[in-house]
Amino acid sequence: MPQLLAIESSPRGDYSISRKLTATFIADWKAQHPGGTVVLRDLMKTTLPFVDLPWILGAYTPAEQHSPEMKQALEISNELIAELMAADAIVLGTSMYNFSIPAVLKAYIDHIVRVGVTFTPSYEGLVKGKKATIILASGGLYTPGAPAEGYNVAISYLKQVLGFIGITDVNVVLAGGTAAIDMGKATLPEVLDQFEPAVSQAAKA
Ligand SMILES: Cc1cc2nc3c(=O)[nH]c(=O)nc-3n(C[C@H](O)[C@H](O)[C@H](O)COP(=O)(O)O)c2cc1C
Repeated sequence: MPQLLAIESSPRGDYSISRKLTATFIADWKAQHPGGTVVLRDLMKTTLPFVDLPWILGAYTPAEQHSPEMKQALEISNELIAELMAADAIVLGTSMYNFSIPAVLKAYIDHIVRVGVTFTPSYEGLVKGKKATIILASGGLYTPGAPAEGYNVAISYLKQVLGFIGITDVNVVLAGGTAAIDMGKATLPEVLDQFEPAVSQAAKA
């Protein structure tokens, strides 16, 4: 049975546009894949230490020679990678923070990009045969042709790093302009309505 890994990173709970759109994706994906399973990885509920010295030493040391510190440092990395490897499809909901991604998502990426595990020493990606969808919520607009399009390093970075580990089939939904809600110029349902068709289409692809 197919498995969807849903990665959430917004700290805004019920106010989060990326979380609402990811929920739409999950519902549509489930309808497309009766019997499929969804694994939720909520990075706001995951204790994610930054990469440290035992982690780095462990990543470059054969598992059978790991010290207790290396083992412990790599525990969460192993868990996250196993979850990723088991998935057939991935939906990644994220906010744009300072033109890039929230720190918690960067910390996640640092745990899943590991030599000999998700890429080879000759830089071949080992996470193959998966379809990914990125849903990026941003206050401003970064659609093709928008004046700030080039400021969006979140998507170029995510596509590059996913491609590096072998995930090359990547769909992007740019949910831009959410600042209109904060400014009282649009309601949450109005903003969601704009992006739900693209999200549903991505879930059916
Ligand atoms: C710390 C912080 C940094 C932000 N940086 C940007 C930015 O660089 N560009 C932008 O368009 N919006 C920026 N925003 C607005 C968020 O991207 C926007 O509120 C988005 O809807 C957040 O995603 P969420 O609704 O899923 O939480 C920022 C918001 C916060 C809190």
